[in-house]
Amino acid sequence: MIEPTLARARILLIVGGGVAAYKALDLVRRLRERGASVRVAMTAAAREFVTPLSFEALSGQPVRFDLFALTEDSGMGHIEFSREADLVVVAPATANLLARMAQGLADDLATTTLLATDKRALLAPAMNLRMWLHPATQRNVATLRGDGALFVGPDDGEMACGEYGPGRMAEPLAIVAAIERALQEPTAIPLPPGVGARPGKAQTSGVLAGRRVVVTSGPTQEPIDPVRYLGNRSSGRQGHAIAAAARAAGAETILVSGPTGLPDPPDVAVVRIETALEMQAAVRAALPADIFIAAAAVADWRVDRASEQKLKKRGAGAPTLTLTENPDILAEVATLRKGRPSLVIGFAAETENLVDNARRKLARKGCDLIVANSVAAKDGGFGGPDNQATIVSHDGVEAWPRMAKTELASALIALAAKRLEKGR
Ligand code: CTP
Repeated sequence: MIEPTLARARILLIVGGGVAAYKALDLVRRLRERGASVRVAMTAAAREFVTPLSFEALSGQPVRFDLFALTEDSGMGHIEFSREADLVVVAPATANLLARMAQGLADDLATTTLLATDKRALLAPAMNLRMWLHPATQRNVATLRGDGALFVGPDDGEMACGEYGPGRMAEPLAIVAAIERALQEPTAIPLPPGVGARPGKAQTSGVLAGRRVVVTSGPTQEPIDPVRYLGNRSSGRQGHAIAAAARAAGAETILVSGPTGLPDPPDVAVVRIETALEMQAAVRAALPADIFIAAAAVADWRVDRASEQKLKKRGAGAPTLTLTENPDILAEVATLRKGRPSLVIGFAAETENLVDNARRKLARKGCDLIVANSVAAKDGGFGGPDNQATIVSHDGVEAWPRMAKTELASALIALAAKRLEKGR
């Protein structure tokens, strides 16, 4: 089975110079099997252990190792190279590579990429046990953890040099599992407000400075009794990414979120709610705003009278749940007479007739723009790291290419800023 988080994930693998480099070949194979695309960069030392050709054959893509070679990879600069991935993985991460990273050096393609990337890095250390236990290495590891790097391993085991102890690189499958865990959470590293324009990409930096944006995200959970609820599969990744992008574009951002496993986007005011009614109250309290973006998957119904006590089986057959419709928060905000946000954006998750349904939703809810996604199983359904959106507005329909949810968030914020400037 293809794991949903790895299918279509883009991994940038940096291979350091150690005997464990050959295990990185297996890692590439495992990742490809699961549907991920893998780009490989090798340090000069890594090429002493494994040939670039082996990685090219397994990854199906050219391997990069030279910071200055303009001919490599059709002129893609190292900055773009470092940012097109969803996650950067360093395996094996040697003592030398960890030290250079901890120092912030940029003296080859690997370290420059690690410094320039806007994604988190997952490091799989591999070295002799004394090198691993050395206070200098442990200091570097602590520094890197503090900087937000993730680690997998090292494992205890017999070293190539015959000693026994910690320092063996984690097994490829353990690294795959760690990559999957890392992809469950946003991997983009946000910039402080007011900076971050990316040449050639959506210019979002500071474009929303002085504006206020309210975003809803995640599912809602409607209690049946104190331990059970009605819910849905929303991961919240898209909504959280939008809040992060709005903040990165300089907006004061309030995120009203149902239960998710995601960390709060930095510098965003997060209001945690569980039910649709709580979300409605929190959104009302968060308004007025310039932009309202409803990315939450709000439960359409709630249980009429949730039981105060846990429902018991008691042999009387299954209980009957009476459902009541929840308020439509998006429609309420879009039709506010007083204090309507200048731009109201809704989402439509459809399994069929994407554009027609989205058009109807646009009209019925009274919003300015609908971001329509297909959640049909063949399109990847809910929860993955990327998304293919079709933008439906009164101006027409525009199908965007499939991209990372974080990229889609930046593109949407850029579009919102442009529309705001034009007055919708
Ligand atoms: N939404 C909302 N409040 C609700 C239901 C939905 O704010 N009670 C918002 C969602 O955040 C999303 C949009 O409305 O932006 C689309 O919701 P959806 O549930 O897909 O549409 P429905 O109106 O329920 O239509 P249908 O179930 O027929 O697809």
